[in-house]
Amino acid sequence: MYARLRPLLFRLDPERAHDLALALAGLAQRQFLPRVRRAVGFRPDPRLAQTLFGRSFAHPVGLAAGLDKNGRLAPFWNALGFAFVEMGSATARASLGNPKPRLFRLPADRALVNRMGLNNAGAERVARSIRLTRSRAGRLVVAVNIAKTHDPSILGAAALDDFREAFRAVVGVADLVVVNVSCPNTREGTTFEEPKALDGLLRALAVEVGYLGATPPLLIKLAPPPAATAHGSPMPGLYAEVVDVARRYDVAGFVATNTAPDRAGLAADHATLEAIGRGGLSGAPLAERSTALVRHLYRLTNGTMPIVGVGGVMSADDAWRRMRAGASLVEVYTGLIYEGPGFVRTLHDGLVQHLDRSGASTIAEIVGADA
Ligand SMILES: Cc1cc2nc3c(=O)[nH]c(=O)nc-3n(C[C@H](O)[C@H](O)[C@H](O)COP(=O)(O)O)c2cc1C
Repeated sequence: MYARLRPLLFRLDPERAHDLALALAGLAQRQFLPRVRRAVGFRPDPRLAQTLFGRSFAHPVGLAAGLDKNGRLAPFWNALGFAFVEMGSATARASLGNPKPRLFRLPADRALVNRMGLNNAGAERVARSIRLTRSRAGRLVVAVNIAKTHDPSILGAAALDDFREAFRAVVGVADLVVVNVSCPNTREGTTFEEPKALDGLLRALAVEVGYLGATPPLLIKLAPPPAATAHGSPMPGLYAEVVDVARRYDVAGFVATNTAPDRAGLAADHATLEAIGRGGLSGAPLAERSTALVRHLYRLTNGTMPIVGVGGVMSADDAWRRMRAGASLVEVYTGLIYEGPGFVRTLHDGLVQHLDRSGASTIAEIVGADA
């Protein structure tokens, strides 16, 4: 079905196709959820289940941040078969994001470029949407990704307050909170990934945790390493420091990776890339360096801090390799755009086949086997 629909969707402007797909998903959520479940849903193989961060994941495949920015579609993602979803990024203040056009396809590379700029309805409203819908989302684990409001004038102490406000708004509805310290679209220069800045941010959130008492586990979402690391160049020393800082504040795990600002190794020609301009690259070209970072983080932490692998997971083979490199879970965004709603099942079934061939009895056994 998607094979027939995709050429039509791909003829539309990418953001219009995206809005149309989300509108159809919303309609399906209101009217046809059982039908969606029958068409593409599946019963997860119990050998793929894991308990991580104190939550049970029916299988390892989730939806990456940025598709359901306003947290409206938890029941639909559950019907497609996702085990978990990252809503957001949600920011303290609502934002319209960058001017359009801001989303581009690179079909020859099975990639996208976006500079959406954190458009979202604001963390309070995102939390409200999740609260209204999640009782119909079954066992879906709902993570909420928070980021700093897209406004370069919010700096220093105000930036920390802004993050704290988003955190306060979502803690009550989130099973996990992902702190997005790696958005490449916000023109701010340095990000909170710089270890000192990360320390300041995590300290500010820890104060908040102190006020609020029990809060959901925190994960940190990182940017991809330079492209050369995919071909054996050493990883920047920064990551060891980031891991140390994260440990100090009881961070539960990592999401690796966000999109890349560069255009390394693409088939698309120079003129096409010039016409697109700046933005974060996602999809197949990210796979090798995202995997390299997963492996690096797994080694740095001795597998003690679970990693969510994201970036160029375009097939079940990719998902299997990412898990063997050290990811306990995987997420998809661009793969779903290229492969369609049946992709979750494709990934699940492919992982089951790999597991059968491997001789392992559960998926947890193969996590980090090639780290
Ligand atoms: C259009 C678009 C919007 C995105 N928005 C966000 C966002 O708001 N917050 C975030 O943390 N990541 C965002 N991402 C990054 C994805 O969550 C993911 O890390 C990245 O796309 C790599 O995965 P993929 O290759 O499967 O797409 C966005 C990606 C795309 C393509």
